[in-house]
Amino acid sequence: MALLEITDLSVTFDTDDGPVHAVSNLSLSVEKGETLGIVGESGSGKSQTAFALLGLLARNGRASGSVRFDGQEILGATTKEMNRLRADRMAIVFQDPMTSLNPYMRISDQMAEVLTLHRGMGKREAVSEAVRMLDAVRIPSARDRIRLYPHEFSGGMRQRVMIAMALLCQPDLLVADEPTTALDVTVQAQIMDLLDDLQKEFGMATILITHDLGVVAGFCERVVVLYGGRVMEEGPTDPLFARPTHPYTRGLLAAVPRVDDADAKMRAIPGAPPDMADPPPGCPFRPRCDFAGDDCLRMPPLEPFDRNRARACRRPVAEVAP
Ligand SMILES: Nc1ncnc2c1ncn2[C@@H]1O[C@H](COP(=O)(O)OP(=O)(O)OP(=O)(O)O)[C@@H](O)[C@H]1O
Ligand SMILES: [Mg+2]
Repeated sequence: MALLEITDLSVTFDTDDGPVHAVSNLSLSVEKGETLGIVGESGSGKSQTAFALLGLLARNGRASGSVRFDGQEILGATTKEMNRLRADRMAIVFQDPMTSLNPYMRISDQMAEVLTLHRGMGKREAVSEAVRMLDAVRIPSARDRIRLYPHEFSGGMRQRVMIAMALLCQPDLLVADEPTTALDVTVQAQIMDLLDDLQKEFGMATILITHDLGVVAGFCERVVVLYGGRVMEEGPTDPLFARPTHPYTRGLLAAVPRVDDADAKMRAIPGAPPDMADPPPGCPFRPRCDFAGDDCLRMPPLEPFDRNRARACRRPVAEVAP
């Protein structure tokens, strides 16, 4: 049984301009200990998928479908049940640590609180466990620095603190939503190395949300490509990157600048992502797709092909490297 099984998830927001269909009929699963990447352009529904499964949707949002965690249906669970799950078994790391750290509390108090509240530890034990986690995320002199306030850390160090907080309860599932986008390139690489080590050490399943395909290639065993709130293609990372078959996946990969090819121009996909308040009928990528035909006016189903791969496309491109 998969650790996480999302089936037919749709997320809709009520707005003054009518409903926004952020995620439509999305299905994916994550095995225990697996690393899954979710990629796609801005607005493709990556974060809302994560928020829906963690019970963190904005007030005007509703989710339908099914999210099973360790066999148990959690979509529609009460706030109390979700709080418990998020404290015990799943954790999220956001792009901007300042949104989840309390600026007025010392790191020691914020971290210890998690353990005293949810693990019933005494304060002393909680603080020493917190120090152990800060050591694990390689914050130098953790024993002293744990007494600092969030603003006294650099951006990269703050993100380490966030990761340490997420790991305090030793979650079975870690969701990292653009965990390095706000950081400069060198620090980004350090944080990804750290996440990679921690994932191996703690063995938790990890969903990494990013628009950086390079990061996915280095970290994830499997990838799901989203566009317009739908899964376009999914499969094991290496074959998916080496032989993308969905025109959108090919477009995404072609838009990645290559260091080994100085003359290569970044070929951005012409056109703009769909307006999710008024999505085009059928495949959302159809208006930008070179291969689209009339049959694309009906949304193609996500169909398996090859080994463990699947795509939602009636006009897959020849399975050759782009
Ligand atoms: N509270 C809200 N009300 C209305 N629409 C929303 C709300 N939150 C998100 N959306 C819309 O849902 C869609 C999907 O958003 P989502 O945050 O999942 O994008 P994303 O793939 O994470 O993009 P990014 O890479 O920019 O973070 C977007 O069209 C967004 O504008
Ligand atoms: Mg996002």
